[in-house]
Amino acid sequence: MAFFKSATRELPEVRPVPRHVAIIMDGNGRWAKQRFLPRVAGHVKGVETVREAVRACIEQGIEYLTLFAFSSENWRRPAEEVSRLMQLFVSALENEVKKLERNGVRLKVIGDLGRFGAQLQRLIQAAEEATAGNSRLVLTVAANYGGRWDIVHAMNRLAKEKPEAAGEWTEADLEPRLSMPYAPEPDLFIRTGGEERVSNFLLWQLAYSEFYFTETLWPAFDADALKEAIASYQRRERRFGRTSEQIAVQETGDRGQETEAGR
Ligand code: IPE
Ligand code: IPE
Ligand code: MG
Repeated sequence: MAFFKSATRELPEVRPVPRHVAIIMDGNGRWAKQRFLPRVAGHVKGVETVREAVRACIEQGIEYLTLFAFSSENWRRPAEEVSRLMQLFVSALENEVKKLERNGVRLKVIGDLGRFGAQLQRLIQAAEEATAGNSRLVLTVAANYGGRWDIVHAMNRLAKEKPEAAGEWTEADLEPRLSMPYAPEPDLFIRTGGEERVSNFLLWQLAYSEFYFTETLWPAFDADALKEAIASYQRRERRFGRTSEQIAVQETGDRGQETEAGR
């Protein structure tokens, strides 16, 4: 399994372009309402935006894109909307997987998938298998996902797999049992739609991510909007608990090493 640096136990590598972008795609309902359309029309348009976002991430050199599609709390929505969202998920899997395969995208779905219908579960498994060999972009869709669920699920695995160490478990024990051990922690977290909250998304993994909020509603979030988010990210100084002065020394050191390596 790939090895990634933890933001709390080590110092992750910081690159100008975020390696991993995680997005809460919010604002579909309002986008539709502004156009006097039913909410589902916003979700339909939202799927198109996902397609564009995947393309834009590949162009920008982003390696991991994680999208919040359905939260563990979204079951509380009207039954009609939930069922339309499930249908959309099914049709997106049926129609898009071939394209993902062709474009070198690996698809992963995280969340408590047991609550989905058998057809959807089968499609998810088939899509993951069909794209497993791809590595240009790893697209993770969080469905029936909750950050608290993720942590408790990992704890329960730990209790089963390492009961002898109970009372002495560490972050390093928990991390590989969380939902995304195949990805580095997100560098950039984006939420569209104007709300400034985490809504139970990746609670553990976002510990040191840079946050970016935009009023733009998800169906209107295009390649330029993504570029703007990346530009904002590039103006940040990621300190991981250190001082600004330490960062400056580190950066000079890195450049020194690069020169030595003749790059
Ligand atoms: C996000 O858009 C999509 C899902 C949660 C499935 P919303 O449906 O939450 O849109 P708003 O927030 O009501 O505008
Ligand atoms: C968060 O959006 C979940 C997804 C985008 C899938 P919500 O629209 O459900 O979040 P809240 O309810 O406004 O916090
Ligand atoms: Mg919303």
